[in-house]
Amino acid sequence: MLEAPFAQRVLQWFDQYGRHDLPWQQQATPYRVWVAEVMLQQTQVATVIPYYHRFVEVFPDLNTLASAPLDRVLELWSGLGYYSRARNLHKAAGIVATEHNGEFPASFEAAVALPGIGESTAGAILAQALEQRHAILDGNVKRVLCRYHAIDGWPGKSSVQKQLWRYAESYTPHQRIADYTQAIMDLGATLCTHRSPRCSACPLQTDCKAHAQGQVGRYPAPRPRKQLPVRAARLLLLTDSDSGNILLEKRPPSGIWGGLWSLPEADLDEHVDRLCRQRWGVTVLHREDCGRFRHTFSHYHFDITPCRIRVRCEAGCVQEQRDLVWCPSAEAKKRALAAPVARIIGEHA
Ligand code: ADE
Ligand code: SF4
Repeated sequence: MLEAPFAQRVLQWFDQYGRHDLPWQQQATPYRVWVAEVMLQQTQVATVIPYYHRFVEVFPDLNTLASAPLDRVLELWSGLGYYSRARNLHKAAGIVATEHNGEFPASFEAAVALPGIGESTAGAILAQALEQRHAILDGNVKRVLCRYHAIDGWPGKSSVQKQLWRYAESYTPHQRIADYTQAIMDLGATLCTHRSPRCSACPLQTDCKAHAQGQVGRYPAPRPRKQLPVRAARLLLLTDSDSGNILLEKRPPSGIWGGLWSLPEADLDEHVDRLCRQRWGVTVLHREDCGRFRHTFSHYHFDITPCRIRVRCEAGCVQEQRDLVWCPSAEAKKRALAAPVARIIGEHA
């Protein structure tokens, strides 16, 4: 018997085993799907769902989001990480509000021109919300296609990427485009997973090349590792011995952790007691370095030594400024924090 074509098999599998009750599949407006796709860019469905509900409750439509302060958006994003997604979403909402009358653009070119929306995300939004035929190529789809065709080479490489787009286009059906878009992502996210693919349950198994070779683990090829430079510093966790409040500093809007609340940073050779006196007018009562750990950015490793410091706030010490606040650790945890900062406060405050 002739095998059904790719999309048909994927759709048949989806009808039986796919996810049909995701919050953004209900009232799948471009705005709602957009928010979901941006959250899902670097975060799994199960994690996203509660954040998604909260976000669309506070910002039910695009104009509400566009007119909200960025701080509020970052706050609701706190815990999801990769905050540049939230900054771009907010910025793009502003653009749509002023340049597109508050309607998410129905043209692919206009959608892909918005900050934070690449070709795959634009396609995913327009396919799911408006049934427009566009191919998608997110991490899930890349993994499926690399395995199905046993493609060597890192999928981020432009030649490999081009080849993957060609396959993605060719498999995209002309009907049921919203379903297919969700289906192929679901297949990648639930069956053809990174670590433990379940080929025995997969509708593509009969002609998947990687499976036939018994080499599923070889694909997709990992990113070639380049040596990254290392930077080391202390992050200072100052606790006021009277109130128990901790000191947070807000990062400048651009650069690493832009606009997020953070802990003050000090070079390893910096004299911490003097720094505390000079910058904040506080006296150090006790100080200890805690276990160092590494946080890796795309362009360098950051070796962080958390430093717990109990201080006394004398009269005249710096209490509060625009980008500086003393607050209880429980309140600090609710603010938009970079992941390593959240970790330090969680473990040591
Ligand atoms: N990853 C990106 N978008 C997704 C979606 N709609 N469903 C599942 N995983 C996704
Ligand atoms: Fe992925 Fe296995 Fe299906 Fe191939 S057969 S697409 S490797 S789950």
